[in-house]
Amino acid sequence: MNNKEELTGGRIGKIHKLGETVVRPSNIWTKDVHSFLNYLHEEGADFVPKPYGINEKNEEILSFMTGDVYNYPLPEALLTDSMIVSSSKLLLKFHKYSERYVSKLTNDEQWMLPATNPAEVMCHGDYAPYNVTIVNNEAAGIIDFDTLHPGPRMWDIAYAIYRWVPFDSHGNLKEQIRKAKLFLDTYGVDSEGRSSMVKVLVKRLQSLTDFMRSEARNGNKDFQLHIEKGHLQLYQNDIDYLKTNEHEIIQGISNG
Ligand SMILES: Nc1ncnc2c1ncn2[C@@H]1O[C@H](COP(=O)(O)OP(=O)(O)O)[C@@H](O)[C@H]1O
Ligand SMILES: [Mg+2]
Repeated sequence: MNNKEELTGGRIGKIHKLGETVVRPSNIWTKDVHSFLNYLHEEGADFVPKPYGINEKNEEILSFMTGDVYNYPLPEALLTDSMIVSSSKLLLKFHKYSERYVSKLTNDEQWMLPATNPAEVMCHGDYAPYNVTIVNNEAAGIIDFDTLHPGPRMWDIAYAIYRWVPFDSHGNLKEQIRKAKLFLDTYGVDSEGRSSMVKVLVKRLQSLTDFMRSEARNGNKDFQLHIEKGHLQLYQNDIDYLKTNEHEIIQGISNG
């Protein structure tokens, strides 16, 4: 008999490790997420969990990815330049596989987040340290695909910079710009993508706060709790910070 063990760092009491698998709540999009993860595995991408279906309690079963997962406040080891390089490389690797899936979509799929045009890649939607496994000081595996949806690659890149730098209102602007540029250089983002980075990120954070509000209104307890804890205001502060410094950021991250 395998031991069931709670995994922390996500929704409390909902995610468990059972043997070498992870059991987590499923939702209307889970079947489409599993098709995507199966496709990636068929293509040889072993850095995402392998899906094993949905159990009688409506929970999804996935392979357990080895490594450590961190959350905020991030330890020093997660704030280094080499971690920026490694997280950017892993996102690029993911998009190289995920872009091939776009042509396979039937558009009958259900996603948690709205599909966004242009659908260049399948966006992870929440590519952050708390959804990435670290092995030997490198970003190694990607987990938690609930927010998967078709969209522009900058959608994922801008949000990744927000989470990995991190590019929030508490940081040092010059240092944030330097690290954001390192992320963009490593990924190989063109000048058009760079000049759109701040606007895309602001739009991404606004859509996140809109989503939190509407989910809370519809009775989602997790999001009601987020709002009670003041998380909405934190995002709003970051949006204001990015808007205020947009010009300096764009100049600093340009590849010209
Ligand atoms: N496939 C997996 N392999 C290894 N660890 C996992 C896996 N899925 C989840 N975890 C662990 O469980 C924690 C919470 O899971 P996650 O799916 O991110 O929850 P939530 O959807 O609530 O954010 C993660 O931070 C990670 O430590
Ligand atoms: Mg998570």
